[in-house]
Amino acid sequence: KAFDVMVVGSCMTDMVSQTPRLPKAGETIHGFKFFIGFGGKGANQCIQAARLGARTTMVCKVGKDVFGDNYIQNFKDNGVHTDFVGQTPDAATGTASIIVNNAGENAIVIVAGANMLLDSVDLQEALPAITRSKVLVCQLEINPQISLQALRMAQKNKVKTIFNPAPASPDLDPEFYTASDVFCCNESEAEMLTGSVVTNVEEARGAAQELLKRGCKSVIITLGPQGCVVVQAQESTSKHVPTTAVKAIDTTGAGDSFIGALAFYMAHYPTMALEEMTYRANQVAGVSVQAVGTQTSFPIRAGLPADLF
Ligand code: RIB
Ligand code: NA
Repeated sequence: KAFDVMVVGSCMTDMVSQTPRLPKAGETIHGFKFFIGFGGKGANQCIQAARLGARTTMVCKVGKDVFGDNYIQNFKDNGVHTDFVGQTPDAATGTASIIVNNAGENAIVIVAGANMLLDSVDLQEALPAITRSKVLVCQLEINPQISLQALRMAQKNKVKTIFNPAPASPDLDPEFYTASDVFCCNESEAEMLTGSVVTNVEEARGAAQELLKRGCKSVIITLGPQGCVVVQAQESTSKHVPTTAVKAIDTTGAGDSFIGALAFYMAHYPTMALEEMTYRANQVAGVSVQAVGTQTSFPIRAGLPADLF
């Protein structure tokens, strides 16, 4: 079996409370709505790629519990291949406790649980499928060394790699840069990695150049309503890709919608300019911020303008 997009990454059960504002330390506040959803950056990215029409497969680990069972069903419902979704009795399915305020901003605590038990043996089992994938995507909600190993395995087999250093960590293994065809992060992750403030396009251009120097083939920094900055090793000058303004209802998972869409475009239109893919992926993510929830807000191909395909 061949795949457009393989994601080696996380699954989390999202427990979401909607509140007027985020609580302060030691404070209790009333929220007005609670719901449980499917999340985790890896799975979110995979589901978005699948909803746009990519043939997808997920390499991940969930617990032998009801959350894990439900998650596997969720992959099947979205047409994601599940042969490499493991279930372990040794840890619980990952969870994310999420608070979303009225401005659509969020604060998240993840307990990775079973995600941290994804190991080299699991990767070896997936190796034949890695070699038959067009694009491999990784993040940082599993053991980072497993993400790095997956990216290296892909590179060795001429599979394009997208790395999303999220959630950001200040002590990122420098090998991640050379393992990334596309290194894609948001402004706060760029700040943490470079040590310089990234709040606008100019600062993002500087940060993108700095990250590029560390050895990736291209860097994308997403700036929410300010669009993205893209820089590629062969071109040297960075490009600003603006986006259309939308009213944010819930931005949770918008970055994942963007990366999943980017992976879809890289697999389906390998010769398209990276700026164009970035522009289109931003349009997809823009739809996701206008609805509540993570995967529940991710659009399907049929619901999007035809000129995105
Ligand atoms: O990027 C959004 C995701 O981050 C949520 O779905 C949550 O699970 C956390 O992992
Ligand atoms: Na959303």
